[in-house]
Amino acid sequence: MITRKDSSRSSWMAYFFLLAAWCCLFSPAVMVKHENFKKCDQSGFCKRNRAFADTAAATSSWTSPYALDPSTVKFKDGTLSAVVLKTVGDGEKVKLPLTVTLLESGVARVTLDEEKRQKGDIELRKDSKARKERYNEAGKWALVGGLETSKGAALSEKVEKGYTKVFYGVGGKHEAVIQHSPFGIEFKRDGETHVKFNERGLLNLEHWRAKKEPPPVEEKKEGEEEKQEEETKEPEPQGEDESTWWDESFGGATDSKPRGPEAVALDITFPGYEHVFGIPEHATRLSLKSTRGGDGAYSEPYRLYNADVFEYEMDSPMTLYGAIPFMQAHRKGSTVGVFWLNAAETWVDVIKSKTSANPLSLGTKSHTDTQTHWISESGLLDVFVLLGPTPQAMTKQYGELTGFTAMPQSFAIAYHQCRWNYVTDEDVKDVDRKFDKFKIPYDVIWLDIEYTQEKKYFTWDPLTFVNPTKMGKQLDKTDRKLVVIIDPHIKNTDNYPVVDELKKKELAVKNKDGNIYEGWCWPGSSHWIDCFNPKAIDWWKSLFKYDAFKGTLANTFIWNDMNEPSVFNGPETTMPKDNLHHDNWEHRDVHNVNGMTFHNATYQALLTRDSKGKELRRPFILTRSFYSGSQRSAAMWTGDNLAEWSHLEASIPMLLNQGISGFPFSGADVGGFFGNPSKDLLTRWYQAGIFYPFFRGHAHIDTRRREPYIPGAPYTEIITQALRLRYQLLPAWYTAFHEAHTTGAPIIRPNYYVHPEDEAGFAIDDQLYIGSYGLLAKPITKEGATSVDIYLADDQPYFDYFDYTLYQGAGKTHTVQAPLEKIPLLMQGGNIIPRRDRPRRSSGLMKFDPFTLVVVLGKDGNAEGTLYIDDGETFDYQVGAFIHRKFAFSGARSILTSTNLFADKLTVKAENYLKSMAKVRVEKVIVVNAPKAWKSNKEVNVSEEGAKESARKRGVGLEFFEGGRGKADWAVVRDPKVGVGKGWKIDFN
Ligand code: GLC
Repeated sequence: MITRKDSSRSSWMAYFFLLAAWCCLFSPAVMVKHENFKKCDQSGFCKRNRAFADTAAATSSWTSPYALDPSTVKFKDGTLSAVVLKTVGDGEKVKLPLTVTLLESGVARVTLDEEKRQKGDIELRKDSKARKERYNEAGKWALVGGLETSKGAALSEKVEKGYTKVFYGVGGKHEAVIQHSPFGIEFKRDGETHVKFNERGLLNLEHWRAKKEPPPVEEKKEGEEEKQEEETKEPEPQGEDESTWWDESFGGATDSKPRGPEAVALDITFPGYEHVFGIPEHATRLSLKSTRGGDGAYSEPYRLYNADVFEYEMDSPMTLYGAIPFMQAHRKGSTVGVFWLNAAETWVDVIKSKTSANPLSLGTKSHTDTQTHWISESGLLDVFVLLGPTPQAMTKQYGELTGFTAMPQSFAIAYHQCRWNYVTDEDVKDVDRKFDKFKIPYDVIWLDIEYTQEKKYFTWDPLTFVNPTKMGKQLDKTDRKLVVIIDPHIKNTDNYPVVDELKKKELAVKNKDGNIYEGWCWPGSSHWIDCFNPKAIDWWKSLFKYDAFKGTLANTFIWNDMNEPSVFNGPETTMPKDNLHHDNWEHRDVHNVNGMTFHNATYQALLTRDSKGKELRRPFILTRSFYSGSQRSAAMWTGDNLAEWSHLEASIPMLLNQGISGFPFSGADVGGFFGNPSKDLLTRWYQAGIFYPFFRGHAHIDTRRREPYIPGAPYTEIITQALRLRYQLLPAWYTAFHEAHTTGAPIIRPNYYVHPEDEAGFAIDDQLYIGSYGLLAKPITKEGATSVDIYLADDQPYFDYFDYTLYQGAGKTHTVQAPLEKIPLLMQGGNIIPRRDRPRRSSGLMKFDPFTLVVVLGKDGNAEGTLYIDDGETFDYQVGAFIHRKFAFSGARSILTSTNLFADKLTVKAENYLKSMAKVRVEKVIVVNAPKAWKSNKEVNVSEEGAKESARKRGVGLEFFEGGRGKADWAVVRDPKVGVGKGWKIDFN
């Protein structure tokens, strides 16, 4: 990892580059070090479970050795409990307590534990201090709601031999059919099976067994040796690969396994579903590919084991920085999903199994089932089954469990300017001034690790950041913000009070022997804060206090990086699995939630940093590592991408996937982190980046400067136009964020989510819709492309955002010209899009700017849209201090109205907010696809609620423009002077 900083500047490198370029012609331009990361067959439990699957598939008489004991079934208050028995080698039966909890939301939760471990009735090896139970706290970090059990759930009265059935969900339309032997569950909605557990018999909960340690070496008499070996042999069934049961080595590091093998695995089938989405983070397509080899398929399972993958490759199931073990299956008419709540290393195999039509049996049409196989190293089996039935219901159900995305401050969705590094406070101020000089809007400037004194977080380098407060204040003048990086590794050095306290208070992660763990990261030797420990969180909070972290101001926010955690000299660049966290849970059990505990702690810290201990503003935190639930407190980005077209292209499916997986506040480094993008690539990346929910330019320390004003004509101008477009549409973005915050809907949406019935569009992942606005973008991601084919799923008219060129025709692609200066963006008929058209230096300065409404009439002549605004800063919106309007244009009546979507009684804060916005008006209404009849209209009638009698009904000018040449006609109402927070009517008759 130290190589990251190796620069390649020496002159002989030119020769080397030529050679490298030549090599690139023959090998892909990928530099990931595969040897640093495990493949399934190098990860003992994955290999064992895949082998188990292969044996099952190859054995015609295969029966799963798990059976539910019907005499143990109990059902109370929406929860069924029973014991599943696993038959092992010699007829011994291992007891596995089962729960099936039916939730009010229509979600079912299934857990399977192991009685022996649950009771702590096992022996740990190697004097380990680790806990004995299977890890059962993943829910504590991931879940925040949706757990109310179903009042209506009931056991079926009809008793069928060999089965237990439960009805649940609204109107009892859902059914869990539990087969006793072999054990399996089918989940039905309206009588049809959508999800099957253990259909292929791959359920495997590796039960505890004692290792027969060889007796202490004594002097042996000749001939005794063989006998002794014989005695220490494992009694396990033949054929099991035991080589990694008790120890496992990789890349020179050995993982001691104090509890022996303890994997949990299950096959989950989605019958009739050809597409599955989700389980980020992978640099892959939205519709997940098969993983068991063959044409166009991967041969490795998708891996979820948060890791700092250096120069990661495209089109790969390899693990990346974050993990969300939530998968959705989609077909026409139905979306269902599973959430595999497990924080340990996890692998997921996907198989698309095609069944051909059977000419002899009527009704058996050809169809595809998706079979999946989930394999985790340790922990409980804990799975949620979500029965949809729509993509919207799916994201809502998942959001109810793990939380909806936090409502960000408004600056956070504007443009962020980062690089590793802005080198001095003067440099920061200079960049800030240059943005203004070139009239380029931006909101946030970022400081990477070099701002610290020798990588000691919570310090400033006294030579280069001489006056951080002055710097922060300059930024504040234009309502701009500063983000500084704080990583979880704490430099192990003298004269650093932070590390002294960490040690003294014993708040760091420990190694397997219970001593403080030491490893390498940016500062060299380091220790890691253990945020599983509530005391560590309290301490962390104290470090961010304004009077502790001097130089930070109310406009300073935080970037949490390297929280997988990244450990340069650790196995797979992370921590040893046998490290110990708070309460003696092994790192193995909690690895994938580790990053989230860290950014959660920072979130809490930002809430309490002022002297009163109650910060009024919403925190902003960027995290690299994440898990289910991270959306509640942070934004994420896709880590260290490359300045290559392929990485620009991959960013779209990756972010779409984040959106449908409940963590929509996501972005990718604009321009590409490693390497120097060509000016064309940089420009196209900005044009794509404006459609990332989190929009930040970032670059590696060895790259050339590339702030938008650097590339010069015509690039700077084109990039500025792109940035302005983002700023113009901020009201639409903010409303989309609010929708995500309240319903779980993604901010940018793939085709299938918007058009769930359009089969041809299910796999489309290179174009996106923004919120519910019918704004359809397809960024150019191919070098040299000057046009793009946009797929339209529906037969609404779509209009070019800039010149209103009409595209129409469902189920087809339409070619949109896109020379470098053009951003392919269409508006779907039927929508009303709110904008703010006045160019400003930052979004904060637009706070009281007037709005423009773009009314795009649909094929029936109607249109509607919503707008959500609040102070963009505080939590007052939680007590009603916001404006939430619905705009609707009725073609039949030719009237545009604004109505309130907020019906509650106003609180004082709400009233004050409305007062502060009283003068903010709609300054322009543009009607695209305007009726020809308006040509002769010169005026519209405007009326506003609460307006003075004299002003209640006024005539305002209407201008009509003929489009011609394939372009829509349009009309403009200039300055109707209606309040954006008011009820009003514009009558076009
Ligand atoms: C990691 C981050 C990158 C950052 C660098 C230095 O590689 O992913 O964004 O610039 O560390 O902090």
